[in-house]
Amino acid sequence: MIFPTALRTAAGLCETRLMAALQGRAEVPVVQAMRYALRGGKRLRGFLVLESAALFGIAPAQATPAAAAVEALHAYSLVHDDLPCMDDDALRRGQPTVHVKWDEAVAVLAGDALQTLAFELLCDPGLGSGDVRIALVAGLARASGAEGMVLGQALDIAAETAVAPLGLDEITALQVGKTGALIGWSAQAGAVIAGADVAPLRAYATALGLAFQIADDVLDVTGDAGKAGKALQKDAAAGKATFVSLLGLDGARARAKSLIDEACDALAPYGARADLLKEAARFTIARES
Ligand code: IPE
Ligand code: IPE
Ligand code: MG
Ligand code: MG
Ligand code: MG
Repeated sequence: MIFPTALRTAAGLCETRLMAALQGRAEVPVVQAMRYALRGGKRLRGFLVLESAALFGIAPAQATPAAAAVEALHAYSLVHDDLPCMDDDALRRGQPTVHVKWDEAVAVLAGDALQTLAFELLCDPGLGSGDVRIALVAGLARASGAEGMVLGQALDIAAETAVAPLGLDEITALQVGKTGALIGWSAQAGAVIAGADVAPLRAYATALGLAFQIADDVLDVTGDAGKAGKALQKDAAAGKATFVSLLGLDGARARAKSLIDEACDALAPYGARADLLKEAARFTIARES
């Protein structure tokens, strides 16, 4: 299978599991907003869960609840990221953002409920033993919270009003939380489910997460808003230091490229079984959305 097909398959599995989780719930605005926020997206994190599981012979049917979980958590982070008190964005995945389509209260609550839905999904007995599920829950809680994604988001927002622009080390630390933590959890999830060594996948994800954020920063400067499905050229307008403002466009692209080489090298222990994960890494820096 080639990567675009594998990504589409992963997206379909995530979508089906997520919609099933919300089936039969009361048709109130917060539930409608959750469904709305879950739709679309590349599903790269869900793909990483399924493909890291496949490395250890774990079938998609077993790993899908974990793939759906991280996509629910990620959807929550986007709903809150777009709020007026955060990035104040009106467009996400080519559609009006949740607070624009409903209101801020619905967006806050839909985000909250998407976050708890992620942990509900991780309790699915099909994922494995109680120990496996606790390891997944604890890992996602750490990756999402105040030493992971939330910390990165807090540093990102604080940077907008900082007196001096952040330097490269500070931007890197911010990214490790903001984007890196969820990508890291996703890529290691397969090894956690299999009870295998997570170290090679952790090394892969560390380089991939950083390259992913550099690509997001490059896209913000050079991308097409129609293709990206979100407002671009926002970072410079907000006076934000990014990998592009610090390294220049060519420097940022070169750094992303060498990180992708690093990510692929980290997969050496798995040989050709990791070819799709390598393709995913190359896609990460070539993407237009
Ligand atoms: C966007 O993530 C937000 C960042 C972490 C930079 P994605 O680019 O993965 O967004 P979707 O899920 O495909 O919409
Ligand atoms: C958002 O980062 C990261 C999270 C939601 C954790 P950005 O603010 O750079 O993402 P976009 O550019 O709005 O997608
Ligand atoms: Mg943001
Ligand atoms: Mg944003
Ligand atoms: Mg961005």
